[in-house]
Amino acid sequence: MEPVLSIENLHTRFATPDGLVEAVNGVSFTVGEGETLGIVGESGSGKSQIFISVMGLLAANGRASGSVRFRGHEILGLPRKQLNRIRGARMSMIFQDPMTSLNPYLTIARQMTEVLIAHKGSSRAEARGEAIAMLERVQIPEAARRIDMYPHEFSGGMRQRVMIAMALLCKPELLIADEPTTALDVTVQAQILELIGALQRASNTAIVLITHDLGVIAGLCDRVLVMYAGRVVESGPVRDIFRDPQHPYTAGLLRSTPRLDEAAGARLSTIPGQPPNLQRLPPGCAFYERCAHREAICLDDRPELRRIGEERKKACHLPHL
Ligand SMILES: Nc1ncnc2c1ncn2[C@@H]1O[C@H](COP(=O)(O)OP(=O)(O)OP(=O)(O)O)[C@@H](O)[C@H]1O
Ligand code: SF4
Ligand SMILES: [Mg+2]
Repeated sequence: MEPVLSIENLHTRFATPDGLVEAVNGVSFTVGEGETLGIVGESGSGKSQIFISVMGLLAANGRASGSVRFRGHEILGLPRKQLNRIRGARMSMIFQDPMTSLNPYLTIARQMTEVLIAHKGSSRAEARGEAIAMLERVQIPEAARRIDMYPHEFSGGMRQRVMIAMALLCKPELLIADEPTTALDVTVQAQILELIGALQRASNTAIVLITHDLGVIAGLCDRVLVMYAGRVVESGPVRDIFRDPQHPYTAGLLRSTPRLDEAAGARLSTIPGQPPNLQRLPPGCAFYERCAHREAICLDDRPELRRIGEERKKACHLPHL
C-alpha cells in the first residue's frame, strides 16, 4: 500500500550571515498507514526542521529540496493555497512551541471552529460543540467557558493541550507530534500520550512522534529513526533497536537513558563531546569526533545509510557493533 508520507533525499538549508547551515542532509523515509514512527536525536539534529519543511513553514532564510509526497502527491514547494487543503486537516502538526501555531489575536473558539468550518463544512454551532468536546478530552477544565479566551490567558501547559486538541480536531491522516509532552507534568503527559494512542487505534492515523524520551518511543512507536547532524544514522523496528543497537551513537543514546530498574539517583552516562557545526560538516562520518569505535576510513569516507537486516539500516562503516 502507498505510504501516507514519503520523503526522499530531503535537504533543508538556512542562509545566515556566516554561511549556510545544513540542518537536514539527504533524509529519506516513509510513514505507513496506521504506523507510529519515532524520531530521536540530540538537540539541533534536524528533527523539527524535517517536518517544518514538510508543512511548508520554513523560516524566510530556509530552502528545502528533494521530494515530499503525501499519499503519492508531491507537496514540497506547493503554493500555500494548495497546501492549506492538506495542512491542518489531513496532516497536522503539534509544534514544540505552542505559540508557533496559535494566533495570539484570536480566541481559541475562533481558531478551532474555523478549521472545522473550512475543512469539514460544519456549521458554527456544530464546530463549537466538537471543539469543546475535544478540549475536554485533553483535560481543559471548564472547556465551554475557556474556549472563548485568548491564548495568553492559558498557562504554558494548557496552551500545549489546546494545540494538541486543535491538531486532533479534524482527525488527520497524519499527525506529527513534536515533543508534545515535554512542557507537561508527568500525569498530563501520560494522558496526552494515551489520547494519541487511542486516536491511533480508533482511526488508524499515521503518527510521527519526535522526542528526546526513549521511554515514550518504547511505549508507543513501531519503528524509530535516529538522527545525527541532519542525517538518519540508524532506523528499524523499536524492539530490535533497543535490544541490539548497531550504530555507536544509538548505543550511546540508549546508555544515557534512565532505566526503570536502575537505582534512584544512578548516574547516567552521557555521550562525551558535541555534535559538529552544521556550517562546517566534516567530509567523513559526522560522529567521528565522539566515536569510541572510529577507524581511519571514518575520517574521510562518509558512511551511507545501508541495509543491515530485513527492516534495519545504519550509516556506519563497522560491520557489527
Ligand atoms: N531560521 C534558521 N536559520 C538558521 N539556522 C536555523 C534556522 N532554523 C533552524 N536552524 C538550525 O537548524 C538546526 C536543526 O534544528 P531543529 O530545530 O530541526 O533541531 P531539533 O533536532 O528539532 O532540536 P531540538 O531537539 O532542540 O528541538 C539547528 O542547528 C538550528 O539552529
Ligand atoms: S562510521 Fe566510524 S566514526 Fe562513524 S559511527 Fe561508525 S565507527 Fe564511528
Ligand atoms: Mg525540535
